[in-house]
Amino acid sequence: MKRQEHTIRGGNAVEVRGLVKHFGDTKAVDGVDLEVPEGTVLGVLGPNGAGKTTLVRCLSTLLVPDAGTAMVAGYDVVKQPRQLRRTIGLTGQYASVDEKLSGWENLYMIGRLLDLSRKDARRRADEMLERFSLTEAAKRAARTYSGGMRRRLDLAASMIGHPAVLYLDEPTTGLDPRTRNEVWDEVRRMVADGSTVLLTTQYMEEAEQLAHDLTVIDRGKVIAEGRVNELKAKVGGRTLQIRPSDPQELHRMVGAIAQAGLDGVGSATADTTEGLVNVPIISDEQLTAVIGLLGERGFTIAGIDTHLPSLDEVFLAITGQKTSVLEDEATTIDAVEEVAA
Ligand SMILES: Nc1ncnc2c1ncn2[C@@H]1O[C@H](COP(=O)(O)OP(=O)(O)OP(=O)(O)O)[C@@H](O)[C@H]1O
Ligand SMILES: [Mg+2]
Repeated sequence: MKRQEHTIRGGNAVEVRGLVKHFGDTKAVDGVDLEVPEGTVLGVLGPNGAGKTTLVRCLSTLLVPDAGTAMVAGYDVVKQPRQLRRTIGLTGQYASVDEKLSGWENLYMIGRLLDLSRKDARRRADEMLERFSLTEAAKRAARTYSGGMRRRLDLAASMIGHPAVLYLDEPTTGLDPRTRNEVWDEVRRMVADGSTVLLTTQYMEEAEQLAHDLTVIDRGKVIAEGRVNELKAKVGGRTLQIRPSDPQELHRMVGAIAQAGLDGVGSATADTTEGLVNVPIISDEQLTAVIGLLGERGFTIAGIDTHLPSLDEVFLAITGQKTSVLEDEATTIDAVEEVAA
């Protein structure tokens, strides 16, 4: 089947300049600029209430922005809404499937609405149900689906028409790890097929898995942007977790790492509940150095793992504050404006 026609200027599938959307006193989107090069995934990371859904709704013509411009697949969101709608796919934050119809009927109907032939719509519905492990439930009314199944059906629906630009608003919130991986695989497949994706998420890990570039927003403003790796480096990379074979050794291990004063290795802490030593590191060399040191000092290690910074840690590093939802309004806004300046 042919991909929908779209013309893209300057190689950007999405180009947003000074976008503003206020609801009364709430500055949901407050002057956002962003660019998503064709065929890439932009992760938009932000805490609850940051303005992610409002941004996506503006870019999908569901809301009219108060100011600014946005071009998607070469179409202006305000001036060419009809053309634009035909080139995008949207998975909203809340599943929007028709309860009365079966999973298959939902997908078939959307395929037909997108002008697929009967045969193509049928084939595509079967294909997407299979990809999202819904074949067995295909004939059941969607109202009998679990939350995760609805979410999968919704994702399948947004991908039916091979959209040139796909918006995924927190696509894996509330999904189990296996389903989350299925969604990630499907997104990768869409991108390999040439789609451009704008993905909002609260999970650093999801951004790491899928996104080429990352924009961090808070209170309607962009507070950081760049390649995923650049941002990670800013935030301080990863935490190395070491499990000593003998839990009694936790504090001695922490002491040994502190004493060695390895370059670029943050201060190690002992987590006695989990039986782990946590060490902030930036590079693989530092990981190797820490493990090497512990070997030299005669420690026996039962396991090691590394984990990426959480959204909270990202915010802490960028703004010097916890995510704004947890904070006093005034202090956070100051910190954000400082960073944005
Ligand atoms: N229709 C609306 N009317 C009034 N206020 C709104 C409306 N939609 C969103 N808001 C407000 O705009 C701000 C941004 O909301 P938005 O839903 O865009 O955030 P979000 O980043 O998607 O958050 P979450 O992670 O919780 O989904 C919030 O303060 C919200 O209460
Ligand atoms: Mg949202």
